[in-house]
Amino acid sequence: MPVVEPFIRWAGGKNWLVKSLDNIIGDLCYKNYYEPFLGGGAIFFSMDHPFHSYLSDTNQDLINTYIAVRDDPYEVIRFFLNYLNTEDEYYRARSAVPVNLAEQAARFIFLNQTSFNGIYRVNREGQYNVPYGHRTNWIYDCDRILNASIKLQKVKLKCCDFEGYKYRIKKSDLVFLDPPYTVSHNNNGFIEYNKNLFSIEDQYRLSRYIEFIRKRGAYYILTNAAHPVIKTIFQKDNDRLIELNRHSLIGGRKAKREEIKEYIFTNIPRGV
Ligand SMILES: C[S@@+](CC[C@H](N)C(=O)[O-])C[C@H]1O[C@@H](n2cnc3c(N)ncnc32)[C@H](O)[C@@H]1O
Repeated sequence: MPVVEPFIRWAGGKNWLVKSLDNIIGDLCYKNYYEPFLGGGAIFFSMDHPFHSYLSDTNQDLINTYIAVRDDPYEVIRFFLNYLNTEDEYYRARSAVPVNLAEQAARFIFLNQTSFNGIYRVNREGQYNVPYGHRTNWIYDCDRILNASIKLQKVKLKCCDFEGYKYRIKKSDLVFLDPPYTVSHNNNGFIEYNKNLFSIEDQYRLSRYIEFIRKRGAYYILTNAAHPVIKTIFQKDNDRLIELNRHSLIGGRKAKREEIKEYIFTNIPRGV
């Protein structure tokens, strides 16, 4: 299988974490794989999964796009021909209403790749409203779509809350958890705009979900903001807490590179 890269840019994407996976997972032999905060799926795509994979997210447009890429990649690629990477064409595509799943996926990927920052944001009516990003050198990467499609064959995809596949989890399965962050890094502030998206109560609910995973005899990896509140909610005596530093561009126009600390919690023993 060739190296498969995510075909979606996603806020909070974990491409930067891939190089640290060996240190976290080692030679762990796990069975089924779960990723219930899928986004761009950086970790799913970076690993070879020995058994079944169950991927989910609450973003219906995103999951529909994965389903179309899995089931109908050539039709998705054919619909790419409808979209040109210019400002006018971007806004035309943004206001268009797709007629089927393949067209919806092609539009989603086009807007995602050519928008400002690749963020996903909708207005009160649920319409995508991110402005054009002027990434004029971007072109379609059809091989990426076809390789992703191969990797997604037989993968279960569902639009649901992170607890959606809960009762399927069994002994020796692996669950990778990458929730939206509720508190910001390196300071004491809660992320204002995020309060309805993933609240502090959701973080506690996630902590109970991790207890469930543990009781099933399965493994989990959780990424989260490095913040005392997060440590209090998720740190367990026998589990590992790994602190990782990464560089990130912070801010809009006057963006500068800052070092950000992230927490990784896992019950995978060291040196397996
Ligand atoms: C930080 S992103 C995941 C990024 C992903 N790991 C990657 O590499 O691109 C968090 C994701 O969680 C999803 N999400 C938000 N609330 C959720 C919930 N209650 N249950 C499941 N998914 C949720 C968002 O739609 C978003 O795609």
